[in-house]
Amino acid sequence: MILDVQTFQAVCPLARLEPNRGVAALVDGVQVALFRTSEGEIFAVGNQDPISHAYVMSRGIVGSRGDAPTVASPLHKQVYDLRTGDCLDVPGVTLPVYPARVTDDAVVEVAVH
Ligand code: FES
Repeated sequence: MILDVQTFQAVCPLARLEPNRGVAALVDGVQVALFRTSEGEIFAVGNQDPISHAYVMSRGIVGSRGDAPTVASPLHKQVYDLRTGDCLDVPGVTLPVYPARVTDDAVVEVAVH
């Protein structure tokens, strides 16, 4: 038997997420930045900017670099791959990424652990 150890929590209605705009949410005490890309994909990453340590990533600029959907820090503009959290500008810097999904009744859920 395979146990699903992730605990998904309802965060907000999908309609609340505008394409390419971030939303900050507190999920089980973890500050999360939620994004919906123009392709309709949902991503959840840590809201804390790893460089400045400010909780601002939800105000970042959504874009893409090559195949990678990205968010740029609103402070120092480093670009992060939303799929992996890897900073594409500064090697070794990462954002935490959290599994996100949309339920059949259009609620966005995130698992922070
Ligand atoms: S740390 Fe605040 S703008 Fe750079």
